[in-house]
Amino acid sequence: MESYWEKSVERTDYPPLTEKTSADVCVIGGGIVGLCTAARMMEKGYGVVLLEARRLGSGATGGTTAKITVQHGATCYQDLIRRKGPRGASLHGQANREALLEYPALLRDWEVQCDYAAAPFYLYAATERGVETLKREKDAHKRAGIESRWAEETLPFATKAALVLEDQAIFHPLKFVQGMARALAKRGCRIYEETRALRIDDFGRVHTPEGGVMASHVVIATHYPILDKPGMYYARMYQERSYACRLEGPKLCAMYFGVEEDSPSYRPAGEWIIASGIRHPTGKDPQGNPYQRLLERTRQQFGRVQSMEGWSAQDCMPYDGVPLIGWYGKSDDRRLVATGFQKWGMSQALAAAGILSDLVHRGKSVYEELYRPWRVAPLDMTRGYLAHTGTLAASLAAGWMGIPSLKPESQGGQVVRKDGKRMGLYRNEFGEEFTIKAKCSHMGCSLKWNDAEKTWDCPCHGSRYDIHGNVLEAPAIRGIGEE
Ligand SMILES: Cc1cc2nc3c(=O)[nH]c(=O)nc-3n(C[C@H](O)[C@H](O)[C@H](O)COP(=O)(O)OP(=O)(O)OC[C@H]3O[C@@H](n4cnc5c(N)ncnc54)[C@H](O)[C@@H]3O)c2cc1C
Ligand code: FES
Repeated sequence: MESYWEKSVERTDYPPLTEKTSADVCVIGGGIVGLCTAARMMEKGYGVVLLEARRLGSGATGGTTAKITVQHGATCYQDLIRRKGPRGASLHGQANREALLEYPALLRDWEVQCDYAAAPFYLYAATERGVETLKREKDAHKRAGIESRWAEETLPFATKAALVLEDQAIFHPLKFVQGMARALAKRGCRIYEETRALRIDDFGRVHTPEGGVMASHVVIATHYPILDKPGMYYARMYQERSYACRLEGPKLCAMYFGVEEDSPSYRPAGEWIIASGIRHPTGKDPQGNPYQRLLERTRQQFGRVQSMEGWSAQDCMPYDGVPLIGWYGKSDDRRLVATGFQKWGMSQALAAAGILSDLVHRGKSVYEELYRPWRVAPLDMTRGYLAHTGTLAASLAAGWMGIPSLKPESQGGQVVRKDGKRMGLYRNEFGEEFTIKAKCSHMGCSLKWNDAEKTWDCPCHGSRYDIHGNVLEAPAIRGIGEE
């Protein structure tokens, strides 16, 4: 479903790439990471070509809720201290604080209008257990150098306690993406849409359906990385979907994020509220209607609110909870990557853009070690991967197991046996049928029907396809039947 952001802007119309060309830097992916990285590279004097498989902002950035904050979830800094020590946590805080502070200058320098506004961020608890979580996070803030205070003011709904981080921000993510693209193009960046990168070789050649780019450096900003090797990213991250809706309700002047599982988070958007929450790994059953569940939770807090529209999106979740930003593989000095933002990509995208452009320009970054993408798998990562391989094995095994056939009268999508083959069959409300092979083009896992989005989703690493088998989200590069 289209997000509020997508509905409130015109779609972009950059041409596809139909020839062979060259550039200092080729950025693959036109989401917030790609656009910010292109800008930072150009500021350092590099010529940039940007390739986008679909339309700019059509990935996670088009479905985000766009809260720009250094507080990445309920237990961000306590988790980072446990995983990376106080120095790692404080470096993460510093990278994101710098990015947060850089936004106004970036918007001014590139003349971008995107409804940017400063706003406080409240981390709230509704239970005594939640208050204990807040106390631990407050301690972690002290150790990581993050400024926060206990809220003494009354919040717009009942809570037990809240921590406040002042001077965080919100914006319209697609006005940002489109405004940056216009400004980049004006200064000489060549942007191509409907141009999927099909292959990137060790020499910096990016192959596309009708052309290609030869570049000194290639930035893979495709959200989930599209190269499996080096780096084995499929063993480092999974993807998780979350739901958002725009509501008519009381006017808010701040952002709110609940520490309890399934607590909604809120931000203002003009005269509306955007609520988000409810999550599950991509390709898994959402357990009931997620939009209805989200609406019920917001009604418990605000009383009667009216939903204007709902949408969902997904983000990459590293098993060890730390983003992956830097050289793509151990001996790579051409290809770079930025991913794994765990639904907090707004500040991290700009931080990543600075890190990647420093690596290319100066050969180093103070954040290099913390975010090294190909780091040796810590215990957390190995444990997470092993748990997830259960999904992988089950999904691959599904290909050999018996499957029910779709009842003739039913509408929706289901995996069926047709002419002895395992097929994904979608039947719309008019009885029209659309059939694809129900096997992911990435590594062959069995696809699952996503009824909320009317897409085929892969439970293994989160690739998604439309009802015709065209790729919607990476790591898949090729559509069903094209491999
Ligand atoms: C529901 C939800 C709410 C969120 N809310 C917040 C929030 O409030 N604050 C926050 O900080 N973060 C939030 N996030 C996280 C944030 O939205 C993401 O981390 C961020 O948008 C990721 O940006 P990206 O550029 O990496 O990916 P994307 O926006 O997905 O961009 C990647 C682009 O690459 C393109 N692409 C893929 N493959 C290829 C290929 N082979 N060739 C060319 N192009 C390709 C895709 O089409 C896509 O446009 C949220 C995420 C979700 C899911
Ligand atoms: S996304 Fe990896 S097998 Fe489908």
